[in-house]
Amino acid sequence: MKLVNAARPAAALFSVATAVTVIFASLTGCSALGTVRQKADHAGLTYGTAIQAGDILDPDTKKFIVKNFNLIVPENTMKWANLRPTKKFWNWSDMDHMVEFAEQNRIAMKGHTFVWHQQNPPYVSGLQTREEALPLLIEQITEVMKRYRGRIREYDVANEVLNEDGTLRNTVWLRTIGPEYIDVAFKAARAADPDAKLLLNDYSNEYAGTAKGDAFYELVRGMVERGIPIDGVGLQLHMIAENPLRRDALEENIARFNALGLYVSFTEVDVRILMPVTPEKEAEQTAFYEGLLEAATGAEGAGSFILWGWRDAKSWIPATFAGYGSAHPFDVKGKQKPLYDAMVKVISNAKR
Ligand code: G3I
Repeated sequence: MKLVNAARPAAALFSVATAVTVIFASLTGCSALGTVRQKADHAGLTYGTAIQAGDILDPDTKKFIVKNFNLIVPENTMKWANLRPTKKFWNWSDMDHMVEFAEQNRIAMKGHTFVWHQQNPPYVSGLQTREEALPLLIEQITEVMKRYRGRIREYDVANEVLNEDGTLRNTVWLRTIGPEYIDVAFKAARAADPDAKLLLNDYSNEYAGTAKGDAFYELVRGMVERGIPIDGVGLQLHMIAENPLRRDALEENIARFNALGLYVSFTEVDVRILMPVTPEKEAEQTAFYEGLLEAATGAEGAGSFILWGWRDAKSWIPATFAGYGSAHPFDVKGKQKPLYDAMVKVISNAKR
């Protein structure tokens, strides 16, 4: 009897401690078993997120990032219009600050992106001739990569160069330099920082057997055959919960890039829901994230899983896809969803 009574305070204490741990974990992204980042490190998984410049000005957000992720990528900070709004003015401070933060916390840093058709300043989008465009593109890549040589691990050198039908997108770079602008960019990147990993990044390129997926593969295969310095490919994976993940077509795709000697990174993962959220839609979304993480952590997997933001409160989705939302593991109030625990479980069980 005494024993039972004696056990009660201990049990009460235990449940208070458990409750505190659960509340703490739900706000900070860690559990008594360790942080998500520790689990990712243990699994050999690059588990990252896009961050905004302001995130590392906020102490709580900083702590959250350090606990959860082993890689960060600037969501907008390195894009041309932000980094170099006029030809002569380089706005280095936000990038410098991010690189320092990553280094101080042993977080790998990724760069995003040089060649793109969006977020270019007028002096770039208005380029008319190859003579103007070529040196400017090379200068941009060289200046950034030399400044951060040895400090930024990998770059999306070029982003979204294809249309949905697999043809080259009509951009300022294609119009002025011609199709070889992609090769030019990768060669300049290798010369500027020989140790940085160089990626070609795109969306709707995740499945083998689709027009864009196959065109993306052929584009990359051609680069490899021409000896262009490319190390990996980015599958952005901005997905929709109601269209289930096609694991076979994804894994077939990963395998064919690996066969070219390239690595595959899941670079901008989010899975949006047609609002309102229902338990069924949440279950579809959870299954989608789990399947992607399993594909990333499997023996032949991508090994690199980067969220395009972790919270609905600062999501790019609602402004871009009317009626869609709830795409990330944390809700608009910053609270983690059941989806988050499911992801932690996959990472905990993974060993590459
Ligand atoms: O900074 C201005 C602010 O001063 C202004 O008041 C506000 C008014 O709209 O706009 C702010 O800029 C916005 C910027 O995000 C920062 O929030 C831009 O309008 C907006 O277009 C921009 O959207 C970004 C988008 O790329 C376009 O560059 C998203 O945040 C970013 O998530 C998104 O990321 C892209 C990847 O780079 C490539 N793959 C697709 C992905 C999603 O579109």
